[in-house]
Amino acid sequence: MGGETVVNDFKDKLKEWISEEEKVGNVYDVRGSYYGLNIIPITITRGKEIPRWSYVFVKHWKTGNPVVFQIIDVYFDQPGTEYQDASISMGNPIKDPSMRKYKCKGLLVGEINENGEIIPPRYPIEPEADVYRCPKDMIEFVTQPLDEWNIKVGEIPELGIPVKIHLEPLVRQGLLITGAQGTGKTTALITLITRATLANPPLKFLILDWTGEFRSVEKVINSIKEKLKEGDKDYISKVLGRDVSDLDLDVISNASVSVIEWWRMYCGFLEDEFIQYFKPILDGIIAQQRQFSDTVKKYARELVNYADKLTIERLEELADIRRGRREETTVIGAKAIINNVLSSYLPKNDDEFEKWKKYSYIIDELKEDIVENNVVIVDFSASLPEDLSIVDDVEIKSELATMIAKHIWDIGSRDPNFGCVIVIDEAHRVCPEKDLGYMDPIWQRLASEGGRNKIPLWIVARRLSLVSKKVTTELQQNFFCFNVEDVDRKRVEEDLGKSFAELVPYGTIPPLHCIIKSNGFRIPGQIVFTKIDVVERPAGGKLSKDVFKEMSERARNRNK
Ligand SMILES: Nc1ncnc2c1ncn2[C@@H]1O[C@H](COP(=O)(O)OP(=O)(O)OP(=O)(O)O)[C@@H](O)[C@H]1O
Ligand SMILES: [Mg+2]
Repeated sequence: MGGETVVNDFKDKLKEWISEEEKVGNVYDVRGSYYGLNIIPITITRGKEIPRWSYVFVKHWKTGNPVVFQIIDVYFDQPGTEYQDASISMGNPIKDPSMRKYKCKGLLVGEINENGEIIPPRYPIEPEADVYRCPKDMIEFVTQPLDEWNIKVGEIPELGIPVKIHLEPLVRQGLLITGAQGTGKTTALITLITRATLANPPLKFLILDWTGEFRSVEKVINSIKEKLKEGDKDYISKVLGRDVSDLDLDVISNASVSVIEWWRMYCGFLEDEFIQYFKPILDGIIAQQRQFSDTVKKYARELVNYADKLTIERLEELADIRRGRREETTVIGAKAIINNVLSSYLPKNDDEFEKWKKYSYIIDELKEDIVENNVVIVDFSASLPEDLSIVDDVEIKSELATMIAKHIWDIGSRDPNFGCVIVIDEAHRVCPEKDLGYMDPIWQRLASEGGRNKIPLWIVARRLSLVSKKVTTELQQNFFCFNVEDVDRKRVEEDLGKSFAELVPYGTIPPLHCIIKSNGFRIPGQIVFTKIDVVERPAGGKLSKDVFKEMSERARNRNK
């Protein structure tokens, strides 16, 4: 009975949509006779304007159902005349808009049938068919996911329609964000993470944060909890992007973010049980030293591999103990590597070792941390305490990130009840394109199989061409494309296909605007033009103007 009422309600809705429509044009192509299904040509009625990315529908001649199209291309068509051409060339254009026509192309979204299903039509769209503007709730109906476990990411510009994405596919298949500098990638991730953290049930995140920008997530979560106590529902619903329900209150009060400074993890790997993880890194560093002979490097690597404790003193001792029949020069060389190279990475002696140890965060704690919190941020930008003298270099941090990823993979592939999204901004640091650096196979593995183990990757590739194709092609089912540089267009085309690439506007899409292709929309793989909601700006990123203003003020004060 209930099911029937729903269907009847829907039939009424369908009738309402069809009867309250505004006619804006007709299916027509003055030059062609091709009236297919995937893309239809439209001539717009004079006085009506249909912007790119809006939605229209046609009543199907055979089924009577509305077939919805998304406007992907808009242009004027005006036949040329000799006299006008001549007048323009003389510098006195005679303007004659009377023959001008506003045309556009509609990309198929789907046919809505009387059961409320969106189906691919099976008969072509007839020439001259009337074209109507879609009412708002009809656009919501064809774009928004049915499943409640979704988040709002932004709005369709101009139409003001909320853009929502079902979380399941984002976990199942991962996510790729691309766009030139300053287009809004990090801001989008902050919105996604915050809202998914406050979804019901909440997602879990491990953010490998190179710049500290994701501290914003911590900031929002803390302030939303404050606002909950104060009863400020407006703030809460602004962060959530929707009305607040009682269920939300529970989720919010339980939300928490934990931040781990990268050097604490680093120190954790020096602890006895974990040095096996750490040794390959030192091995790699030794291998890179050009100024030493292979024999010397080999001995140094052997010492590292053998060491029961990673301190400079201990390695030096071992260099003598394990000398055997080696030449004096080999021993001296190995000691030079230990003292000059490895000393930047390891504590000097037992005393220092104990000091470093008090900072250590053991990787085994990570699982518990993720389970207990919603978001764990590994902050790779955190500055070192004074009594810790590790080199603060990018490569070590990338290695650390890779070790963490491997560890999470181990947990995720063993424990079917564990899940967490691994987030990486500037993914080229760990998964560079071949020829641009070494990529550990774990990243490809996470990209292709992580989702199945509920440990998907969400990555940002500012320049697609710098990031391994093996990784990006696995993640393209959920794709946020901000304004891309021309050089990266080719990769968009290679990774996502020509028809998608053609939809990405040339020139400039304003910041925070992007084209999203996702399996989390109403129709899997649908493409929706979106202006991302700003929940919070990336942390720490002062605008250049403010920095220069402060500098100039400081200088002025000094000169007084
Ligand atoms: N506090 C702020 N106030 C106003 N605008 C800001 C603020 N922070 C950032 N912006 C602007 O918002 C836009 C998006 O910034 P965001 O950092 O998200 O971009 P991005 O794509 O991650 O950039 P990048 O490639 O540099 O990482 C930029 O144009 C930036 O200048
Ligand atoms: Mg960024």
